[in-house]
Amino acid sequence: MSDEPPYLSSGLTESNYELLVRAVVDYAIYMLDTQGRILTWNTGAERIKGYRAEEVLGQHLEMFFPQDDRREGKAQQLIATALREGRAQDEGWRVRKDGSRFWALAVLDAIHDDAGNLIGLAKITRDLTERHEAQLHLDEVRAQLFQAQKMEALGQLTGGMAHDFNNLLTVIIGSSDLALRSQDPERIRLLLESIHEAGRRGRELTRNLLTFARRREPEAHTLDLVSTLEASTGLFRQALPKHIELDLDVATVHPVRVDANQLEMALLNLIFNARDAMPDGGHILLRAENRRMSGEWENLHGDFVLISVTDNGPGIEPEIQARIFEPFFTTKKFGSGTGLGLSQVYGFVRNAGGSVRVESQPGHGTRMTLYLPAAF
Ligand SMILES: Nc1ncnc2c1ncn2[C@@H]1O[C@H](COP(=O)(O)OP(=O)(O)OP(=O)(O)O)[C@@H](O)[C@H]1O
Ligand SMILES: [Mg+2]
Repeated sequence: MSDEPPYLSSGLTESNYELLVRAVVDYAIYMLDTQGRILTWNTGAERIKGYRAEEVLGQHLEMFFPQDDRREGKAQQLIATALREGRAQDEGWRVRKDGSRFWALAVLDAIHDDAGNLIGLAKITRDLTERHEAQLHLDEVRAQLFQAQKMEALGQLTGGMAHDFNNLLTVIIGSSDLALRSQDPERIRLLLESIHEAGRRGRELTRNLLTFARRREPEAHTLDLVSTLEASTGLFRQALPKHIELDLDVATVHPVRVDANQLEMALLNLIFNARDAMPDGGHILLRAENRRMSGEWENLHGDFVLISVTDNGPGIEPEIQARIFEPFFTTKKFGSGTGLGLSQVYGFVRNAGGSVRVESQPGHGTRMTLYLPAAF
């Protein structure tokens, strides 16, 4: 055997190997000493970071980090982790020579010589700016889509609410009329009570609607489902035509950790689907219950809360059941369905670490069940 290092196969000498590393253009590959000072530099490093070898050799790794990260000693922390654990990885902004930023995926590996002595760190960096920006763009589009869907739903909700407000105002005007004409203190007191109650209900309606409409970043909170579902059901009832009944069946269930707005949106999507499936009226049951899972559905294990929406509509044909969660899949006529409702539901449960299940038989209604992990 020659004295080539073991990682080189025959025919590739060490200097050839160095040439190879130096020639790589898509990755910055270089070595650091144990203090974090730069020892070697390749073409990829020059291309990505914009510095020539002579400008960086002997300098500290921290020179590529933005001001904030430097102040926090991020480069030093990364080196310390790599020295302690043999490896460190980081994703974040770095600064090029010309001051522009790029999104880097960096890996640091501790290097030992044959005798096992630590001789430095190998650093490999990739420029992921394009991918990162595409991801940010995607997040933004998703947020816009969510907001647009919400606005559409809001339109439908306010339609129902205008009607409800009218009822409340009728109560207020009628009762105050009667109270103004009455001499009986007891009767006046009762009338004032019903005015007060109507006012309180009106305030609740607008409050729910405002919470729903407000645009904000999704944020997971530990939710008490009983009060959340009760408040939402009140709101949903306003949006349903009179010939569709909505019942709520919720006992004490475990809390779950989700974004309340997105949960409400998911339920609204399910309830509107049930409504659309029953143009001549019908019955919807919203139900929440605890279930300990041991793999019966999608290999879920542990404590879950099941929230189901059941309707007694026409059901879903088996051929299309497999497709209903696809974005843009709709059987509704052009202009009346976007096909995004169930795709929002799917995204929501996946994010929450859960799942969604459809059970439906033509002629026997549909049950959609959200499986959400319990949060103790
Ligand atoms: N409860 C249900 N009963 C019968 N069919 C349903 C039910 N829920 C969903 N579907 C079917 O699944 C399809 C996809 O539903 P999804 O909510 O994703 O889109 P959509 O309701 O068509 O459009 P959008 O939600 O944007 O108004 C529906 O077009 C319908 O065919
Ligand atoms: Mg829908």
